[in-house]
Amino acid sequence: MSALSVTDISRNFEGVQALANVSFEVAPGERRLIIGPNGAGKTTLFNILAGSYAASSGRVALFGRDITHLPAYARARLGLSRTFQITNLFFRLTVLENVLLALQAGNTTASPVLRLLRQDRALLAQADALLARWELSEHAGHAAQDISYGQQRQLDILLAMAVAPKVLLLDEPTAGLSAAEVPRVKAILRSLARDTTVLMIEHDMDVAFELADRITVLHQGRLLAEGNVEAIRNNPQVTEIYLGSD
Ligand SMILES: Nc1ncnc2c1ncn2[C@@H]1O[C@H](COP(=O)(O)OP(=O)(O)OP(=O)(O)O)[C@@H](O)[C@H]1O
Ligand SMILES: [Mg+2]
Repeated sequence: MSALSVTDISRNFEGVQALANVSFEVAPGERRLIIGPNGAGKTTLFNILAGSYAASSGRVALFGRDITHLPAYARARLGLSRTFQITNLFFRLTVLENVLLALQAGNTTASPVLRLLRQDRALLAQADALLARWELSEHAGHAAQDISYGQQRQLDILLAMAVAPKVLLLDEPTAGLSAAEVPRVKAILRSLARDTTVLMIEHDMDVAFELADRITVLHQGRLLAEGNVEAIRNNPQVTEIYLGSD
């Protein structure tokens, strides 16, 4: 059974066909990279998979279960977790508080809740371990709005991974990171257990080719190609859209 089954998904935005009849299957444990030029429909696809946008038509199934009409929170409860191209942190809360809330899959910033979470030693230990792994410990007490953009991006990925998702959607996780930060994020993604299936949008081809089991190429809302790294690297149509898009 596929971890994720995308069948004939289309989405229009007032005359713009952002996605047209896109179908593909992702196997359990797979690392699937989604590539394609700007405006290809990659983020729209993730919005539809996560339940942020409805598809105009088509079906999405998570481990065989039809989730097409489920709201985002219900998909999250079934093990679907995502990051955003633009970070989605609680900027006024500290780094540690953001992690505590994610570990609880919390969706409230009410201070009584945080006070309780901060007293939960097991949870704190778990949060500390995660922050140490991401080299964010020294920032634990800083407000999320006060750490660097690269650190915010990393915190965003950490939060998405903290819930041990079954399927993790990462939208350009290395975008905006410093040269020193990219290898750390790559290493963490590589070390992620295979019981998490990963779909990742990535503009950097080196990163994409390095992490991918298979690659799906979108172009102008359509699925242009799909295959392993070798096949995509040697696909003349793929080369052409990248040369032609500059
Ligand atoms: N909420 C929206 N309202 C109207 N049009 C939208 C909306 N979201 C996306 N689009 C349009 O849909 C198309 C696909 O956009 P999308 O953001 O999915 O592309 P992308 O592949 O993620 O691009 P990028 O690489 O720049 O992030 C674009 O033409 C975009 O302008
Ligand atoms: Mg995008």
